[in-house]
Amino acid sequence: MTDYPHLLSPLDLGHVKLPNRVLMGSMHTGLEERGDWSRTAEYFAERAKGGVALMVTGGMAPNPEGAVLAGSAGLFTDEDIANNRIVTDRVRDNGGRIAMQILHAGRYAVNPECVAPSPIKAPISPFARSRRRARL
Ligand SMILES: Cc1cc2nc3c(=O)[nH]c(=O)nc-3n(C[C@H](O)[C@H](O)[C@H](O)COP(=O)(O)O)c2cc1C
Repeated sequence: MTDYPHLLSPLDLGHVKLPNRVLMGSMHTGLEERGDWSRTAEYFAERAKGGVALMVTGGMAPNPEGAVLAGSAGLFTDEDIANNRIVTDRVRDNGGRIAMQILHAGRYAVNPECVAPSPIKAPISPFARSRRRARL
């Protein structure tokens, strides 16, 4: 622990005081697409129980065109928002904190409906900006 002497010290972020500096970066697990939000909630709650001070969800798309992969979970409907609330509530019930990453992949979306400011294809995606969307 001598290499990280501040790891278990509180961290005051102004609006919130974290009990330690153990943070979990954003990781999309695939559970988000299974429709069992209780399981996703349990995944994060386990880490809260273990003492992680702050977690970040996997990237949630603000609209279907912005999803990293076609069909990825996102914030499209009231039901989607309610499902994510299950996760937040379970984490907070177990003493943790969680922030949502809202991720619009732009031209990096592996999604034939992707939208982007330019029509230049991303090197990691087979799709350029959707022509149909570009006309809108
Ligand atoms: C399975 C997996 C899913 C990830 N999903 C996201 C994501 O949704 N959003 C994001 O910004 N980064 C994502 N990342 C990147 C991680 O947050 C982290 O930045 C990355 O793994 C670099 O850390 P590392 O070099 O220790 O692996 C993901 C990483 C992994 C391994």
